[in-house]
Amino acid sequence: MTDTSLQRRLPQIIDELATRGWARLDDFLPLPLTRELAEECRKRAQTGALSPAGVGRGQALAVREGIRGDRIQWLEAGQDAACDRYLAAMDELRQALNRAFYLGLEDYESHFALYPPGAFYRKHVDRFRDDDRRTVSAVFYLNDDWRAEQGGVLRLYPRDGGELDVLPAAGTLVLFMSAELPHEVLPATRERLSLTGWFRRR
Ligand code: OGA
Ligand code: MN
Repeated sequence: MTDTSLQRRLPQIIDELATRGWARLDDFLPLPLTRELAEECRKRAQTGALSPAGVGRGQALAVREGIRGDRIQWLEAGQDAACDRYLAAMDELRQALNRAFYLGLEDYESHFALYPPGAFYRKHVDRFRDDDRRTVSAVFYLNDDWRAEQGGVLRLYPRDGGELDVLPAAGTLVLFMSAELPHEVLPATRERLSLTGWFRRR
């Protein structure tokens, strides 16, 4: 499917991840597939399959709308053809990252996320204090025709200082080192859909 274009773009992604700790890729998947994924996310929202996202993990997991206001559902393989194509692309990426970095990335966990208008996710780092398996974070955006004035950017705080905003526009994939890069989601004036996930090592 996207193999050839991903292969072609890999050297740059890998260089950016290594030197800056983050990388951005436009048109990661074909637009029709991205739209199918958005449709699937909306369908799940309508059928009540999405739940308020938590903060922390295990016994400390708690819903805190003052920290994050998105609704999520974890993906499982074999439920939906479009989701399976996305998971296949992410697995291809996982293998490429392993070849480049010897990170020993073993699996990929991901969920749909829907931020209603006004929802946000305060500045945080993705790796848990008591579980260091999350190594590379990946956020794939599903929103057609996103305009800057609609807000909802992902704001990254790279290690060389400053801040960097990424619009959650359909087809954009952002990768960053989970333990290193603080980031936040700013509120938007419209619904904001994504597939967010983590490549995990053993
Ligand atoms: C997260 C997260 C970023 C985004 O779910 O941990 O930071 O842009 N998401 O949705
Ligand atoms: Mn995060």
